[in-house]
Amino acid sequence: MSSENLKYWEGTNFVTDPTWGDNGKGKVVDLMAQRAHLVVRTNGGSNAGHTVRNEYGEFKFHLMPSGIFNPSAICVISDTVVVNPTTLMEEIVSLRKAGIEVTNKNLLLSKNAHLVMPWHIKRDNLRETSRGSEQIGTTGRGIGPTYADRTERVGLRLGDLLKDNFIEIFEKELVFQEKLIGIMGASDNASYDKDKILEELFRIRDTLAPMITTVLPVIWEHHASKKRILGEAGQGVLLDLDRGGYPNVTSSHPGIAGFNLATGIPPKEVTRVIAVTKAYTTRVGAGPFPTELTDKFGDEIRVKGSEFGTTTGRPRRCGWLDIPALRHGLRVGGANSLALTKIDIFDSFPQVNICVGYRVDGREYLLAPRVDNDFLRKVEPVYETLPGWNKVTKEVKSFRNLPEAAQNFILRVQYLLKVPIELVSVGPDRESSIYI
Ligand code: GDP
Ligand code: IMO
Ligand code: MG
Repeated sequence: MSSENLKYWEGTNFVTDPTWGDNGKGKVVDLMAQRAHLVVRTNGGSNAGHTVRNEYGEFKFHLMPSGIFNPSAICVISDTVVVNPTTLMEEIVSLRKAGIEVTNKNLLLSKNAHLVMPWHIKRDNLRETSRGSEQIGTTGRGIGPTYADRTERVGLRLGDLLKDNFIEIFEKELVFQEKLIGIMGASDNASYDKDKILEELFRIRDTLAPMITTVLPVIWEHHASKKRILGEAGQGVLLDLDRGGYPNVTSSHPGIAGFNLATGIPPKEVTRVIAVTKAYTTRVGAGPFPTELTDKFGDEIRVKGSEFGTTTGRPRRCGWLDIPALRHGLRVGGANSLALTKIDIFDSFPQVNICVGYRVDGREYLLAPRVDNDFLRKVEPVYETLPGWNKVTKEVKSFRNLPEAAQNFILRVQYLLKVPIELVSVGPDRESSIYI
């Protein structure tokens, strides 16, 4: 195992997710952020749902960086995040209610970040409906259309809210989007309540305006003066627009490439890329999932692991840990460190399976050569069975005090993935964490 302790991390660290999301990034970022000077959310939008449980309660963040509980850290929403202003406002309000100050001293919002507007949500849903049986199963949060507009170099950005002619810019955009929705054939009235949307934006602007700024210089200053920077990805690498199983992907980049786009920090200057994975695998939405369990084991994992979407409440598809897919995700994500979460969910399992290889057309793969849908649909998983531990692990504070079978499981996963496991999580709270 690694000689340097993750508890005393230095430099620039990035928390990513090597599979299909929901592996516990929120928990790990909250934990590590206690030591951070800067915490940067790098990609995605309110399609993400990051759960944090600490002394302030349980929070499910869609946009707020999970480092917000460290009063001396600056949290940043980067250029490459798409922001639903209403959701962000709700998160600020809920934090303030819990006694957490959120001001421009601890939250900075990139003026380049695009705004998710009601028309993006409508377009997302219209597209999904038009796909019929080929639906992606998006979160319906308008993410794809907002990134599409960004790529088309149109749409509203946070910085527009500060401009004197904001109403003019907004009206121009609204006229265009109404035409577009009309063409897309929305069955309901294609017009929007302009006054209501503007009123909402002005209400939110009063709170957000002092936080909206050019964030890149702040990130670079911190980097140049060797401050501790922590990146927080949304989604997971197997949902990467370019490297995931297209089209069942999201519209951004959850791996190291996304960190670079968000911060301008070159990958070679990142000290550690921590991939957070559960002891099993989950996926929300459509798309191939080689180790998916549609039997009682899948139900058991779902119930014991509370595997229901943080954002949409949808039941998550559950399956055994998938080493070949993980290895692909670690490689594309640029990971050199692992955090293994939810070990406790297997506490009462008599035995645990790990998918150690893929059988495809008579060949066996230990590392998925690609994760495109055609390939993944052909995969037959090869399993290895390990004994369970039948002991409660929640209170365990050190690796050597874990049941031997749990230790063996963790060491086996590390051996198969060839990346050091530096953190093991045995419960949702900060305290249920074992540094290795
Ligand atoms: P994220 O999207 O990667 O931040 O993950 P989510 O928050 O969507 O899902 C992870 C869920 O697992 C949340 O409900 C966490 O509170 C919970 N969790 C994280 N680590 C552990 C753990 O080690 N054990 C248990 N039982 N729950 C955990
Ligand atoms: P966090 O950050 C799990 C999935 C959706 C869908 C696909 C595209 O909590 O890990 P989108 O709305 O992005 O266009 O949907 O991506 N998806 C996630 N799955 N966790 C997430 O975020 C996700 N964000 C998007 O279910 O399959
Ligand atoms: Mg999540």
